Amino acid sequence: MKIAIGNDHSAVEMKNEIKAFLESKGYEVIDEGTNTTESCDYPIYGEKVGRAVVDGEADLGIAICGTGLGISLAANKVKGVRACVCSEPYTARMSRQHNNCNVLCFGARVIGIELAKMIVEEWLNTPFEGGRHQRRVDMIMDIENR
Ligand code: RB5
Repeated sequence: MKIAIGNDHSAVEMKNEIKAFLESKGYEVIDEGTNTTESCDYPIYGEKVGRAVVDGEADLGIAICGTGLGISLAANKVKGVRACVCSEPYTARMSRQHNNCNVLCFGARVIGIELAKMIVEEWLNTPFEGGRHQRRVDMIMDIENR
């Protein structure tokens, strides 16, 4: 499975640790940057991660900024993206199970690396449940066509 990962300047260290964590578990990681701590604009990286997912280059995406908020807002502007900010594993699990989240976001200034790894692991190990949730996800995606 391929995971696109992107971040702004606030999350370079966390991105590198999550990247290594994913690779140690056998995932292929596409690093969309940034890779310097020089101040940059998170919408660039949210969009890159979102596009990698909807274009099929990656199966899922992870986007990290200071809070997870700005980069999730940017990723969600890409048609087909369902980006969710998750700061603990329960929400991460439900974002997959009920919302078919395809871009996981969190804040490098909000959570620590061990919690981030737990969130990533829970998220990646949880499938979408479908059924009644498919209808609701379809309703969300239909908003993009209006
Ligand atoms: C950058 O200072 C910060 O605004 C950004 O990382 C993020 O938290 C925005 O939502």
